[in-house]
Amino acid sequence: MVSLTADMSPLHPDRNLALELVRATEAAAIRSVPFIGRGKKELADGAAVDAMRAFLTTVNFDGVIVIGEGEKDNAPMLFNGERVGTGRGPQCDIAVDPIDGTTLTAEGRNNALSVIAVADRGAMLDASTVFYMDKIVTGPEGVGVVDIRLPIAENIRRLAKALDKPVDELVVSVLNRPRHARLIEEIRDAGAGTRLMSDGDVAGGINAARHNARTDMCVGVGGSPEGIVTACAIKALGGHIQGRLWARDDDEKQRGIDAGLKLDDHVYEADDLVRGNNTLFVATGVTNGELVAGVRRAGDFVYTESVVLRGASGTLRRISSEHLTSKWL
Ligand code: FBP
Repeated sequence: MVSLTADMSPLHPDRNLALELVRATEAAAIRSVPFIGRGKKELADGAAVDAMRAFLTTVNFDGVIVIGEGEKDNAPMLFNGERVGTGRGPQCDIAVDPIDGTTLTAEGRNNALSVIAVADRGAMLDASTVFYMDKIVTGPEGVGVVDIRLPIAENIRRLAKALDKPVDELVVSVLNRPRHARLIEEIRDAGAGTRLMSDGDVAGGINAARHNARTDMCVGVGGSPEGIVTACAIKALGGHIQGRLWARDDDEKQRGIDAGLKLDDHVYEADDLVRGNNTLFVATGVTNGELVAGVRRAGDFVYTESVVLRGASGTLRRISSEHLTSKWL
């Protein structure tokens, strides 16, 4: 049974917050329209950040950005530690990714999303000092079955058994990066197929955790912030996620340790990435993807598609909106 008490407490993100947050991701996606496929990723990101921030300031909550556009000195807006919202309403941790897939957007390729994730205050891991995280994500069948400490071939074998399908029908998504050359080879040697992503492992992770998805598992090293954001969504899908911080050098490792993070192969379980189930994840498509359609301008209207994933109730909802172009672009 879904607890109502958590929703009614001013301390917790409530379900009505979701629609307010969707307005912010929709705004970010719409404002990126002039930059889709125009080769200028900074401009696309800048437009999305401005729009998202403008909407977030009007939302009735007391939010602190735990995962934002970087530390205060480097990012003028939506920086880590910035307070957003009206200050009235639930106290929340916020993770924002105005565009996950800035290069995808600039190149007009699939799978770019505008994302906000919310959890109870103090629930999100602040991993901002270590840029990358090694991750494994699956749907519910992978819970208690796969483990990031195991060789990939063993995880493939176990997941195939849990899914009751032959290994050669399993598809594993992984960012197409030189650092994954060996991993990709091992996946193929184990008999599974790969889906190589050029960017956007938030969408990649969520797609792997959905019951009717075309991929079964998402693995490899991507951004740490993306790992936390993905964990907020995975809570609503009942899926499996684990992460290990992946420092690029000793300095970064030391900065992580100084910030209280655990490195040296320490495994962060789902609940370490974001504590509890009181999570909201909202995303609007910037470009087309398996999860949502991209923002589309046609004459007098701009069309957006968004998803809202709510950890407390385990729901994924879709919101299709039509916006009068004259109000926006
Ligand atoms: P940006 O939109 O911030 O560029 O992130 C895109 C992305 O592909 C993420 O989805 C992923 O986690 C990360 O970059 C991987 O980083 P890198 O491109 O350095 O391998």
